[in-house]
Amino acid sequence: GDVAVLVPAAGLGLRLGPGGPKALRLLGGEPLLVHAVRRLALAPSVGCIVVAAPVDGVSSVQDLLAPVAPVLVVPGGATRQASVAFALAAVPAEFDIVLVHDAARALTPPELVEDVAAAVRGGHAAVIPVLPVVDTIKQVSDSGIVVATVDRSSLRAVQTPQGFRRSVLEKAHASATDEHTDDAGMAERIGETVHTVPGSEMALKITRPLDLEIAALLLRQ
Ligand code: CTP
Ligand code: MG
Repeated sequence: GDVAVLVPAAGLGLRLGPGGPKALRLLGGEPLLVHAVRRLALAPSVGCIVVAAPVDGVSSVQDLLAPVAPVLVVPGGATRQASVAFALAAVPAEFDIVLVHDAARALTPPELVEDVAAAVRGGHAAVIPVLPVVDTIKQVSDSGIVVATVDRSSLRAVQTPQGFRRSVLEKAHASATDEHTDDAGMAERIGETVHTVPGSEMALKITRPLDLEIAALLLRQ
């Protein structure tokens, strides 16, 4: 495969409640990170996986993933953005396409990885998977008063993996001055056109306890 995937997995998982770093929390008896890496390794495009692990968990993550797939493991940072930057710095020179994929999106199918990789290979320098927004969205003031109803038809919920021409991701990270919740946001900031592809319900981000219940249900199907 000609694609490197960065897997930020160094978060605390505070919104999931007590129980340790989220990437190491169990789903169907296996850590979320194992589920995520196994599915990445099943995507034919993927030739390199770099995991940003909790700082005190680098060697245990190496041991955990050794039977799953060949991976490089680096210590993560204090923010997701820093974790991605550390992982990016460890990508071998031969990889010109780089995807960034949250460990928390543990059930993301290999097909979505292929779709994003193919779009970058096809000439799009920045690619994100998106889904339509199902709820009505309103803008609300600090005092709880509705300011406006946002036109939902043009809104999309954004997933990972997000894919980039390597030079674009490197420039985006090198230029970032403020904190971004996703990598495409940093590419937008430097003026890159970001292309969308259809996302997947299976790529849901496990954030709160209910998400873990939903993922367990999806895993059993
Ligand atoms: N992440 C990371 N390094 C950080 C923070 C987050 O590598 N310093 C990773 C998480 O491990 C996760 C992904 O970024 O795979 C998305 O972040 P999020 O869902 O917010 O996970 P957490 O930060 O772990 O959760 P929370 O915000 O609830 O603490
Ligand atoms: Mg977080």
